[in-house]
Amino acid sequence: MSQRLAGIPSDVVEQFHLDRLPFDQVEKRPDQLMSLAGRRAVVTGGGGGDLGQAIVHRLAAMGAHVAAVDIDEPAAKEVAEDASGRWGADVFAMRVDVTDWDDVHRTFAEAGERMGGLDLLVNNAGGALRLHGSFLDQQPDAMRRVIDLNFVGLLYATRAALAQMLPSDRGRIVNIASEGGKISLDGITVYNACKSAVIGFTRNLARELRETRISSVAVCPGVMVGPHALERLGSDDVNARRAALEQSYERLTAGRFSLPEEVANVVAFLASDAGAYVHGTAVSVGGGLSD
Ligand SMILES: NC(=O)c1ccc[n+]([C@@H]2O[C@H](COP(=O)([O-])OP(=O)(O)OC[C@H]3O[C@@H](n4cnc5c(N)ncnc54)[C@H](O)[C@@H]3O)[C@@H](O)[C@H]2O)c1
Repeated sequence: MSQRLAGIPSDVVEQFHLDRLPFDQVEKRPDQLMSLAGRRAVVTGGGGGDLGQAIVHRLAAMGAHVAAVDIDEPAAKEVAEDASGRWGADVFAMRVDVTDWDDVHRTFAEAGERMGGLDLLVNNAGGALRLHGSFLDQQPDAMRRVIDLNFVGLLYATRAALAQMLPSDRGRIVNIASEGGKISLDGITVYNACKSAVIGFTRNLARELRETRISSVAVCPGVMVGPHALERLGSDDVNARRAALEQSYERLTAGRFSLPEEVANVVAFLASDAGAYVHGTAVSVGGGLSD
């Protein structure tokens, strides 16, 4: 028990969990608090050329042991090799389909075994799967696929991670939502509704886990222009892409889109002790898109 609690009646300490206050942080430098050395992380969609790879790189750079899991195993392997080489970190790849309950449980158990436990899950796998346009035109199979990837898969991955985290009563779950989960935009109604669901799930999970040392938080990117987006802007696709970007661009107060790395910075911060008290909420990293 910290000296700082001396003199406070033990029933008060117990009632308000004052012994859980991280007094050890007071004497540390912010860069020490932001270290992820020794943390064991799984990043879903970790083979992704935009945010997925950026998160894997940022976590590895801060010292984490990372499993980049993705339905596209070759892509995850490439990211893992690149991140291990660049940061001298322990990063490996595994194939997983987050929409498959058994597969995600099996894969996470194996990843946890390889790393000796699991401290951090980043639920990054997601995307609109080109389900653009009016809701009235959308077919049930296409809707189901978007819901499965962006919401159901995130529930399954979270459950599988909790199976690893609960025995050690320690862990952090960072869910990648979207600014679109907080506002309305044309043409991506089902996808945005899934992202609203991710924000609601994150908040409710934080409540459900409040007696544990496991917490959840969501991150809402706006429009990221990673390598894929830049490639499309330089291709025949430019006009379709330009039209889709305009409605978001007009709402930004930052005057520019973001790089995936700028979102990954915030994920890494939230994964660290420095960001631990950002809890149950959905952090906007969208250049003012939702304000
Ligand atoms: N791109 C944006 O501007 C933007 C904006 C707001 C939110 N987001 C969210 O950020 C996250 C990352 O998006 P991104 O565009 O940077 O993509 P990304 O580059 O991170 O790629 C996503 C990865 O998910 C993988 N994946 C797809 N289905 C999967 C499955 N069933 N199981 C496991 N992995 C699977 C893909 O293979 C791909 O590698 C998503 O959740 C997305 O909804 C993106």
